[in-house]
Formats: sequence, structure tokens, C-alpha cells
Amino acid sequence: MSAFTIAVAGKGGTGKTTLTGLVIRYLIERRKGPVLAVDADANSNLNEVLGVHCEGTVGGLREEALGTAGSRPHGMSLDEYLDMRIAQVITEAKGFDLLVMGRPEGPGCYCAANNVIRKYTDHLLDSYPYIVTDNEAGLEHLSRRTTQDTDLLLIISEPSVRGILTAGRVNGIVDELGLKVGKRVFIVNRVNGPGLPEELKETVEKQGLLLAGTVPADELITQYDMQGTPLVKLPEESRAVSALYKILDGLEIP
Ligand SMILES: Nc1ncnc2c1ncn2[C@@H]1O[C@H](COP(=O)(O)OP(=O)(O)OP(=O)(O)O)[C@@H](O)[C@H]1O
Ligand SMILES: [Mg+2]
Repeated sequence: MSAFTIAVAGKGGTGKTTLTGLVIRYLIERRKGPVLAVDADANSNLNEVLGVHCEGTVGGLREEALGTAGSRPHGMSLDEYLDMRIAQVITEAKGFDLLVMGRPEGPGCYCAANNVIRKYTDHLLDSYPYIVTDNEAGLEHLSRRTTQDTDLLLIISEPSVRGILTAGRVNGIVDELGLKVGKRVFIVNRVNGPGLPEELKETVEKQGLLLAGTVPADELITQYDMQGTPLVKLPEESRAVSALYKILDGLEIP
């Protein structure tokens, strides 16, 4: 069985990581879990939303592998060494595991390390029913995606023309690059008031975006942020969580 994969995209600071964390929680609570959470943002912070301490990163491991020739246990090949270590950079938590990609590679030849890592992560993809990836802002990461297809892409924006235009560009790039995306929906986050302001609806339509719903600006999120409380601990009745759950209920996630 191969996993159902969900990813987020959108302008910086629109709430991608927050919503990714809450999607993971939804899958654990409402679906059959377990979830592999992948933090693909070089400035990783999904672990904070999820309230777990991250053990290490794939990037860090790649760097480490280059320097280990001398310190590897006697007779252990690079492959064997990476195989052993990569299991240790996965953080295990209740209902989900977290894999943090970390910084992308620097100069130097990483081919051997990359191959082993790729082999391992491909294999991981088959062992979870759900994989949810938090991405960095911008569009470059979309073109770098080579490993997996996405079943559901959540394009996130704040309620602003600029945010919606960025979302429209994401939408366009997905087509241009011929990325394999099963379903693509648009969510406007941090909305004040009952729904999307009238003046923005037209912009959404012009961009050809399929609006799945809006998530309100939530005072509780601001409060949790201030106190450093992981956002996955928000009560289910909170405005943001209940709105997002309602959207997800309508997306026919298997
Ligand atoms: N619905 C909401 N109501 C209030 N605050 C929110 C809401 N959604 C997100 N936030 C806050 O907005 C800020 C940015 O959110 P987040 O880090 O999830 O965005 P991001 O898109 O992942 O940012 P980046 O592009 O830097 O990765 C955070 O402080 C978050 O707590
Ligand atoms: Mg983020």
C-alpha cells in the first residue's frame, strides 16, 4: 500500500506550518494514522507546532556521513553506517513520526549519501498510510520535488491580494511543471469575519483557485504562540481547529 500524501504551499508567514500541524492532528484523531510528518523547510519549525523535540536532520546526517570515513566502526561501509544512523534522526511520537530534512546540501560530493537516504525515505513512504509535508515559502521547492507525487496540495494564503496572487502562481507552476497532484485546493487563513471578504472573491476566481474554505484568525493561536504552547494542543472547539476540520471533512481524504 502506498501512502496518501498531503503537502502545503503558499507565501511566507501565511500559516503553512500551523495548518500542517493541525492536519497531522486531524489524521491522527479522525483517520487511521499513523502519520509521517516531513519538515521540508530548511528553517524547520514544524516540531514546535507539534510539540516534539527533533533528534536530528537528514541534512545533518549527510554532512556527518562525509566526515565519518575515519570514525566509522571498523569494516562498516558508508551504506551500512547511513542505514543505521538514519533511523535515529526520525523522531517517534504519539500517532506520528517526524522526519526533518534540514539544510539542503552544500558543496561536496554527496551522491553516495543521497542515494542511501533516497532509498531509505522511498521505503519509508510505503510504511505509513499518511505523509504530510510542511514546505518552505516560495515556489522553488515545487520544482525540486522529485521523489513523490502529491495526492492533496493545500495552497494557503492570508486574506490579501498579494497572498492570493502568490497562490495563483503556485497553481500555475504546478501545471507548468506537470507535477503530479491529485487534488489541489485553496485555503484562506487568518480571516476576520464570517467568510472571505467580497472584494477578494473575484481575485480568487481570476486565479482559477478552488476555494475549499477559510480559517478564522484565532486569538487562542496568538495566545499559545506568546506562551510557546504547541499549537496542536489547541482545543478542538477552537475557531481555527473546528474550521479546518470542517474543510478537511469535505476533502474526501481516504
Ligand atoms: N488562524 C490563525 N490565527 C492567528 N494566528 C495564526 C493563524 N494561523 C497562523 N497564525 C500565526 O501566524 C504566524 C505564521 O504562521 P506559520 O509559521 O504557520 O506560517 P508559515 O506559512 O509556515 O511561515 P513560513 O513561510 O515562515 O514557514 C505564526 O505565529 C502562527 O501562529
Ligand atoms: Mg512554516
